Amino acid sequence: MTQLPGLLDAEAIRKDFPILDRLVHDDRKLVYLDNAATSQKPRQVLDALSEYYERHNANVHRGVHVLAEEATALYEGARDKVAAFINAPSRDEVIFTKNASESLNLVANMLGWADEPYRVDHETEIVITEMEHHSNIVPWQLLAQRTGAKLKWFGLTDDGRLDLSNIDEIITEKTKIVSFVLVSNILGTVNPVEAIVRRAQEVGALVCIDASQAAPHMPMDVQALQADFVAFTGHKMCGPTGIGVLWGRQELLEDLPPFLGGGEMIETVSMHSSTYAPAPHKFEAGTPPIAQAVGLGAAIDYLSAIGMDKILAHEHALTEYAVKRLAEVPGLRIIGPTTAEDRGAAISFTLGDIHPHDVGQVLDEQGIAVRVGHHCARPVCLRYGIPATTRASFYLYSTPAEIDALVDGLEHVRNFFG
Ligand code: ALA
Repeated sequence: MTQLPGLLDAEAIRKDFPILDRLVHDDRKLVYLDNAATSQKPRQVLDALSEYYERHNANVHRGVHVLAEEATALYEGARDKVAAFINAPSRDEVIFTKNASESLNLVANMLGWADEPYRVDHETEIVITEMEHHSNIVPWQLLAQRTGAKLKWFGLTDDGRLDLSNIDEIITEKTKIVSFVLVSNILGTVNPVEAIVRRAQEVGALVCIDASQAAPHMPMDVQALQADFVAFTGHKMCGPTGIGVLWGRQELLEDLPPFLGGGEMIETVSMHSSTYAPAPHKFEAGTPPIAQAVGLGAAIDYLSAIGMDKILAHEHALTEYAVKRLAEVPGLRIIGPTTAEDRGAAISFTLGDIHPHDVGQVLDEQGIAVRVGHHCARPVCLRYGIPATTRASFYLYSTPAEIDALVDGLEHVRNFFG
């Protein structure tokens, strides 16, 4: 078995993930390399979900009975866990949403309805990048269309990094918000947060970071990032689907208006007007994703017990190995950084002129799960003149043997298509 420095004991970790034992296509061992799309869930998270429903299920913040108090304590306890996981100065800065897309839409709508000094209008500019997931493009397009604001973006270099050579022309005195991805879901690039934040702060613009592909894989410290908002999702970090997080700086959350109205986000309501509860409740209208938050809390306990620094080192070792092994495949072109430095564990590639959908299908027949397509980042494919990519992405339970299986599988794809 290939041993690499920095690897976790993935065989021991895999025992916590029941799904990793299953066979596909009758007798094929599952090789799950689609972790950037969603991660698998450990027994500890599955147990937390069933225990919640079997013993504690009730609505939160609304009842005086035992179950309502237990459910509220579990839900709010999950908020404490998220706050500690990202080093938030206050638990009240952690808003639960449905997913990262909702978190980013929430920021765009807060700013769209805000008063000065935050309001985005026809005299102001919004800055994003060409490597964003659609969830960090479309909400800003919608906001720009609604307000008349100008949407600008950083382009990409040929090696899959942000082109910051014109940073002073892109981020100007008119910029109200700069929203960018920390780790690209398609290129794997880790972006230089500090340089962008410094320029945004110079002109007084707010900064929003999409950490969907970062929070599952590396230690997160929202204070060190110096952003104003950080968005991520639970299902990519061993948690259930249906739970996302928006962290925002307390004074902003106090000043900015809510987006969705409904139960639990209010202080008082009359037929003429309403006043709102303090953050985070101001931004959590209606019955929240309670079980999902509890599941995310269990996922955070699980990841924290292993250690995010150790998970990062494991994935870095795997990525280094994968980049080296993939270079041995004739005709394979990595789309994105071709070294393991400053990149995450999602690797996109093309294979000669074989369409990625065909690559994915032949790999699937061998039990190897990858994602194919534009990965909800179509502008990246347009930038590099390709219709789509095949993407392999690793997590804490991935092994070098699975990378070997991918490389063997790609050899099979090449033979199959002659
Ligand atoms: N955002 C997820 C991905 O990149 C779904 O696959």
